[in-house]
Amino acid sequence: MESQTTTLPLKQLVFRAELRSPLPERKLSLGAFHFCPSATSALPLSSALLSRFGVPGTLKMFGRLLTPSREFICVAAGGRLATYAVVNVGFCRRYAVEPGAILLCNGWTDPQYRGRGLMEGMLARAINHLIARGSRIFYMDTRENNTAMRIVIERFGFGPPVSTIEPYD
Ligand SMILES: CC(C)(COP(=O)(O)OP(=O)(O)OC[C@H]1O[C@@H](n2cnc3c(N)ncnc32)[C@H](O)[C@@H]1OP(=O)(O)O)[C@@H](O)C(=O)NCCC(=O)NCCS
Repeated sequence: MESQTTTLPLKQLVFRAELRSPLPERKLSLGAFHFCPSATSALPLSSALLSRFGVPGTLKMFGRLLTPSREFICVAAGGRLATYAVVNVGFCRRYAVEPGAILLCNGWTDPQYRGRGLMEGMLARAINHLIARGSRIFYMDTRENNTAMRIVIERFGFGPPVSTIEPYD
């Protein structure tokens, strides 16, 4: 009889941390960090956003940034996005978070710059900015086999996952 192997779907792990002290900010190997709390503050990055998201995606991003619950962070270099993520303030579509809690999500680094600490450097700067602004509770989630994100999450002092959700793209 032919043996069958079933592959279990990889889990999406949810991490939560209360952070009060600033994190070490590793030197950015390229580019400059930007924290965009609003559509207006992201306007100077328009061409970098367009080169990554195209017109529909850029308009969608600006639309998101019109709400106070969405912010955008990136490292931009040479007019392009080297790495970026979205900051959700007090909400998550997939699991409950406390009012005012921060969810750092949709992280991406340009493949040519991966493994150089850009995601870690960007997220540390964003978290430190948010701590200075009064945020204390932070959430991140990632696929269980995402080694890079799990290294970063652990370095930032997030403990073991607090829950598991259905994986998503
Ligand atoms: C996951 C991702 C955002 C990481 O970005 P990055 O800028 O390469 O991350 P960093 O360089 O800051 O990585 C942090 C650490 O993980 C290490 N690392 C990066 N990629 C790795 C890999 N594939 N395997 C093992 N370690 C890895 C880095 O070397 C670094 O460790 P070091 O400081 O000891 O050298 C990037 O690979 C990516 O965009 N992937 C596709 C989208 C994705 O998975 N997004 C995350 C959704 S939660």
